[in-house]
Amino acid sequence: MAQDVHCIIGASGQLGTEMALSLKSAGERVVLMDIKPPSFEGILDLPFEQVDVCDAARLASALGENGITHVYHLAAALSARGEQDPQWAWNLNMKGLLNVLEIAAGHVPLARVFWPSSIAVFGPESGRTAAQSGPRIPGTVYGISKNAGEHWCAWYHRQHGVDVRSVRYPGLIGTLAPPGGGTTDYAVEVFDHLEGPEPYRCFLDAHEKLPMMHMDDAVGAAMQILSVPRERLTTPEAYNIAALSFCPAELFAEIRRHVPGFKYECIPDYRQDIAAGWPDDLDDALARADWDWNPTVDLSDLVDTMVKARHSNQPLSPAL
Ligand code: SER
Repeated sequence: MAQDVHCIIGASGQLGTEMALSLKSAGERVVLMDIKPPSFEGILDLPFEQVDVCDAARLASALGENGITHVYHLAAALSARGEQDPQWAWNLNMKGLLNVLEIAAGHVPLARVFWPSSIAVFGPESGRTAAQSGPRIPGTVYGISKNAGEHWCAWYHRQHGVDVRSVRYPGLIGTLAPPGGGTTDYAVEVFDHLEGPEPYRCFLDAHEKLPMMHMDDAVGAAMQILSVPRERLTTPEAYNIAALSFCPAELFAEIRRHVPGFKYECIPDYRQDIAAGWPDDLDDALARADWDWNPTVDLSDLVDTMVKARHSNQPLSPAL
């Protein structure tokens, strides 16, 4: 049997970089795609195709020519950036996904597609702990696009048999590449400001609790959901997955245990309004039951890993 060939679309982004390194480390064949080349040196030896996911013809030929079997479609405008340019965000998020799904259904049959949804599909009606299938009234362009995307994935599976699988990611925290324009980015950005001299200025309220996750668990979730037999997936929706739930004050208190001189101030901006519409936590019982989802990194491990990485790496500057 021919070997699987994995393609990461959005490979230069925060999640794409981590996914690429993980697949490479597992000895898989990986092709990177993005509109801009990757910058993390650990993946620079992987083949790279410069592709705009909105260009359907170029995308189809790049996938076909490389014999791709598995696509991880991660290219998207996130919540905060999306509110500043709604038409651009909608176009990128929807056209990109529809191009991938159409190609998967048609002339380049793909074995599997992974496409992430988000906690942004939820709104205030979803309550503090969002249920798997409760109300979803998103308040951002990003959230609307992820909610619509979930429906499109279900439609392509039902109508065309496309094996697309999805999870609702919370804020993701890792060291290899900066996030690009999310509401949860403070929880990565802060690790560039541990030693002052100015206090770290957080753009959310000190008590704004949000669902969060370390990259190891985020990448693990994608690999896990992709590897189970399709029959085990009992919902056409993206799965809720939960790992951590904390507010800035709680994260910063944990950071102070590692860096006693760490100082911060909270000066909420427009991103606080976005965060206020999102749940504190998600009920992920279905993911645990259907495909054994079980996160491994707690808050103390996460801060420990991030502080150590920051002390040995180049700082990241979020690209908002
Ligand atoms: N991290 C994302 C954002 O803040 C949420 O999925 O937009």
